[in-house]
Amino acid sequence: MNSVSVVILAAGRGKRMYSNLPKVLHPLGGRPMLARVLDLAQALTPAQCVVVIGHGAEQVRAAFASQPGPLAFALQTEQLGTGHAVKMALPHLPADGRTLVLYGDVPLTEADTLARLLDTPADQVALLTDTLVNPTGYGRIVRNAQGQIQRIVEEKDASPAEKALQEINTGIVVLPNARLAGWLAELNNGNAQGEYYLTDVIGLAVRDGVAVHGVAVPDSWQAAGVNNKVQLAELERILQANQARALLEAGVTLADPARIDIRGQLQCGQDVSIDVNCVFEGQVSLGDGVVIGPHCVLKNVSLAAGTQVAAFSHLESADVAADARIGPFARLRPGARLGEAVHIGNFVEIKNSVLAAGAKVNHLSYVGDADIGAKVNVGAGTITCNYDGVNKFRTTIEAGAFIGSGTMLVAPVTVGEGATVGAGSVLTKAAPSGQLTVARAKQISLSHWQRPVKRS
Ligand code: UD1
Ligand code: CA
Repeated sequence: MNSVSVVILAAGRGKRMYSNLPKVLHPLGGRPMLARVLDLAQALTPAQCVVVIGHGAEQVRAAFASQPGPLAFALQTEQLGTGHAVKMALPHLPADGRTLVLYGDVPLTEADTLARLLDTPADQVALLTDTLVNPTGYGRIVRNAQGQIQRIVEEKDASPAEKALQEINTGIVVLPNARLAGWLAELNNGNAQGEYYLTDVIGLAVRDGVAVHGVAVPDSWQAAGVNNKVQLAELERILQANQARALLEAGVTLADPARIDIRGQLQCGQDVSIDVNCVFEGQVSLGDGVVIGPHCVLKNVSLAAGTQVAAFSHLESADVAADARIGPFARLRPGARLGEAVHIGNFVEIKNSVLAAGAKVNHLSYVGDADIGAKVNVGAGTITCNYDGVNKFRTTIEAGAFIGSGTMLVAPVTVGEGATVGAGSVLTKAAPSGQLTVARAKQISLSHWQRPVKRS
């Protein structure tokens, strides 16, 4: 049988992150590094996927409690080395097939690269290697005169001649299960670090006449690990550059591919244009011809074709139909649902509200827990008073109504179809449809009034 299982090593502490969060839970592109590695593993439809956990084990386990696909956790209570870590996973692995070893802190490996590694005979060993100008710190690949891989020597155990070798072990390796248990049982910790090195299985494979293939990684970043925040930030930039390039290649216009951050999934239709310094989080979908101005944040948002978002707008969990105009300086909060051609202007906040087609809220307003009909015009400085300090209430404004500037709508309250509300009104009861409702003190002028004068 030619099935593949995956073991992901994630027991290390990540001391140099100086963080309470286990290293593999640190986010890259908005998702824990380990989530990315698990996705990569699941893409191989493995027979089994085992994550070896140790430091922060419960936190890591909890973070992936509802992961799709096969997933098991193996606890490594003491970090005695990479060979020991794989040994902890053995009870979960099938007796046949192959095991691919990945690392929870090596988050940017691509599926194609693993496919090339797995494109080797199933009863042999394949190692992902790299060649570095400065190989310091890595295990070196030792080859014989015929160029065949013989063994791996760790930096701390290497002779000066071995240290000069520039071909390194990325750590990613695929091994036949029929041999794995036996090789792991033979490992010892008689080395400079007193650890059970997984890398020692390479020498054992050669001894047993099992061929070891070296597959070169196409880009060093695909095998780059994260040990500190510097490396995390470096890989974040690489991930973002890769995502930006993919968008450009798909025809999206980016004002500057170095100034976009996608922390999740961004789907774009045709002729989408995105200005500088925008952040996309979670699932964002932009229809054909959508234009996003500079400095916008969009999280879990869907914008239909032709919608434009002007500078400095913040949109979260909102659903917007076609041809809407939003911003600049607009805020859509969770539950904002805007119909076609709705206009939301500057310093307007919309929360948990439905605005039907053509409705306009153009200036300085708060619309919360409201149902607003088609073509309603909400004047500047209007507020839905939706909260009495304990409960929230809804405001209903029916189609075609006109709300004068500075109106307070004390919910629950309804403004009827085609109604007009005079500016500065405080509405505490229904405004009938088709009528003008004014709810403010009557204006008076005192003709004989005199200004006070300063007493001497
Ligand atoms: C390892 C390789 C080295 C390779 C390098 C690539 C060994 C002996 N050496 O060295 O050849 O060039 O990776 O980065 O394998 N881990 C556990 N349990 C343990 C030990 C480690 O889960 O007991 C995990 C760590 O959390 C880490 C990974 O395994 O994610 C690698 O361990 P690390 O100690 O960083 O190995 P290196 O010394 O870098
Ligand atoms: Ca390492």
